[in-house]
Amino acid sequence: MRTPTVPAIVIDGLRKKFKENHALGGIDLHVKPGEVLGLLGPNGAGKTTLVKILTTLLKPDAGRAVVNGWDVAAEPERVRSTIGMAGQYATVDGMLTGFENLYLIAKLRGVGRRTARRVADDLLSRFRLTDVAGRPAGTYSGGMRRRLDLAAALVGSPPLVLLDEPTTGLDPESRLDTWEAVGELVAGGTTILLTTQYLEEADRLADRITVIDRGRVVAEGTSDELKAAAGNRLVVCVAKDHQVDAAARVAAQATGTTPTVDRRARRVEAAAADGRAALGRALTALESERAEVLEIGLSRCTLDDVFLGLTSHSRREAA
Ligand SMILES: Nc1ncnc2c1ncn2[C@@H]1O[C@H](COP(=O)(O)OP(=O)(O)OP(=O)(O)O)[C@@H](O)[C@H]1O
Ligand SMILES: [Mg+2]
Repeated sequence: MRTPTVPAIVIDGLRKKFKENHALGGIDLHVKPGEVLGLLGPNGAGKTTLVKILTTLLKPDAGRAVVNGWDVAAEPERVRSTIGMAGQYATVDGMLTGFENLYLIAKLRGVGRRTARRVADDLLSRFRLTDVAGRPAGTYSGGMRRRLDLAAALVGSPPLVLLDEPTTGLDPESRLDTWEAVGELVAGGTTILLTTQYLEEADRLADRITVIDRGRVVAEGTSDELKAAAGNRLVVCVAKDHQVDAAARVAAQATGTTPTVDRRARRVEAAAADGRAALGRALTALESERAEVLEIGLSRCTLDDVFLGLTSHSRREAA
């Protein structure tokens, strides 16, 4: 693998419209070599559209995207030769066996027969597909298909790999396999752009996270930075079942946000931008409600809170 010195991805004011629908409304993005960028966003945010433009499957209306130093519009073949891609919708050929799929991709990448065979065998074994290597990919389970897809993206060890929701629909074991494979790629210096709706996945794999919603970047930073920017959570546990509603009311008033209520644990949580002040207000209010408080405090926001807070209007509109 050549050591890339140019940025892996530079995106400038990228726009894409489908009829009146602004799938991408002006995106700027920068990915350094060796970095893992997590692109997080709800359904319809524009993740796949962005990945398709970066992999030259779709042309942008405006703006610029440069991948490994090559402009996607001017040099699509160059771009394609330096990237690997696993799509949200399987790209492997269902008529061919798992082995044949990988073997052919390796051959297309210009290696000899013996090397192609070795590359295919290695990847099949790495993704626990050796037993089904001789079966047409069309007969694979969903999880096997996704693993084959991922293996296909890694043929030829490209310096940049784009993974569009690589673990959606996978069982926990296959998800762990995928995470492990991504970890190995990262250790080997591969740059990765990974889209996901799983916050845990972004938290675990990505060096930096960009949250997009309705075709725009709404937040950007490390997982820690995003959590810190989102403020705290107010947590209240009460002693009696009948006090839970009062606790929820207090939490809502003290924070100005809608709390989540766990009745079994008699626990209420709410995002609190001004953590300490909200805690003070809640303490006073709970006292006047005469609720027996077992636990009250502030905790740090999870990435879930960040994501839900940032993308709430999209979901309200969808609802
Ligand atoms: N080929 C197309 N024709 C018309 N509209 C499209 C097309 N592809 C995407 N869109 C629209 O563009 C917007 C962005 O879609 P995109 O598939 O990029 O979202 P996404 O973030 O990948 O969502 P998901 O999480 O569901 O995969 C959506 O409103 C979608 O309906
Ligand atoms: Mg998508």
